[in-house]
Amino acid sequence: MTRYSDELIDEIRNNNDIVEIVSQYVALKRSGRNYFGLCPFHNEKSPSFSVSQEKQIFHCFGCGIGGDVFRFIQKMENIDFREAIQMLAEKAGIVLPTLENDKDNKMLELKSKVYEINNIVATFYHEKLYLSTSKIAQEYIKKRKLDNNTLKTFSIGYSGNYDEIYKLLKQKGFSDEEILASSLVNKSSNGRYFDRFKNRLMFPIKDVKDRVIAFGGRVLDDSKPKYINSPENIVYSKGRQLFGLNVAKRSGKRQIIIVEGYMDAISLYQRGITNVVASLGTALTEHQGRLLRKYAEKIIIGYDSDGAGQAATLRGLEILQNLGYDIRVLQLEGAKDPDEFVIKFGSRKI
Ligand code: UTP
Ligand code: MN
Repeated sequence: MTRYSDELIDEIRNNNDIVEIVSQYVALKRSGRNYFGLCPFHNEKSPSFSVSQEKQIFHCFGCGIGGDVFRFIQKMENIDFREAIQMLAEKAGIVLPTLENDKDNKMLELKSKVYEINNIVATFYHEKLYLSTSKIAQEYIKKRKLDNNTLKTFSIGYSGNYDEIYKLLKQKGFSDEEILASSLVNKSSNGRYFDRFKNRLMFPIKDVKDRVIAFGGRVLDDSKPKYINSPENIVYSKGRQLFGLNVAKRSGKRQIIIVEGYMDAISLYQRGITNVVASLGTALTEHQGRLLRKYAEKIIIGYDSDGAGQAATLRGLEILQNLGYDIRVLQLEGAKDPDEFVIKFGSRKI
């Protein structure tokens, strides 16, 4: 809803007698059917400002200003129509419904476009993975032992070697503003549009409603940086999301395993452990902890076994303890992370 209804405005008008309202600002005297006073909107010595109780309007014979009670309050308080409605509703004890203002509407519209873009591009990357020109990505998939069901479940994809996302989205009718808001495309100082992700294995990050909100992209070799991720934008706030929660919640178990990496969550899933989320490389945040409330009472921390992982485990423990969860910590002996562990020892050890 973007504006108050005419019925509501009438109700507010009917519950604010204009004589009473004007009297709060102007000394009025009755003379016949009308009330008179000194006009508050121009300088005068004898009263030419009149108020009609019958008609619920005011008029100044001196400066010509006139109107209803909303108009009076607007002029008197130097506020706009909407603010006048709010002020008089409050005086009359009428509770107003909340309105979206135009700025909010524009934001909502842009967000919904970005979700649409993310979805289109996730599908584009996913389909690209199967093309005969994507051998290099297919070989990498084989090396990481990912099966087709896993690729489908996580919509894993491949961003190729060329800048193509801008053109793709333009063809579908998106504006430059919408395309840039998705963070999938950047604009260089000389005005060229280029893709954020090139030649990477693509992991769409989805929210609990299955909407694609961001991407992580992994190199296919040992070059650096290993991952590039979408930056924070209008639909993505990293510390508030957990990779894989959309899948993990379907497991129906009341316990969740938190791991560090995309590949850990995906690899455990493929081996039958489907209640796994990844905290997206950051130390677990309180927000992420709260996000799990709806789905679990018990949480198992399965961070990497290196120093950084151990430190992250301690911080995570503190946060989850404060939120009242029943907590366990996985001991990954003989492996650096859960992915390596299940590949070496199988999932029954977890
Ligand atoms: P890891 O280096 O443990 O990645 O980082 P991984 O998921 O196990 O991937 P593989 O097995 O090496 O392929 C854990 C998480 O930290 C974030 C990513 O979310 C990653 O999954 N990360 C890591 C980054 O964002 N950028 C990086 O350069 C590295
Ligand atoms: Mn790993």
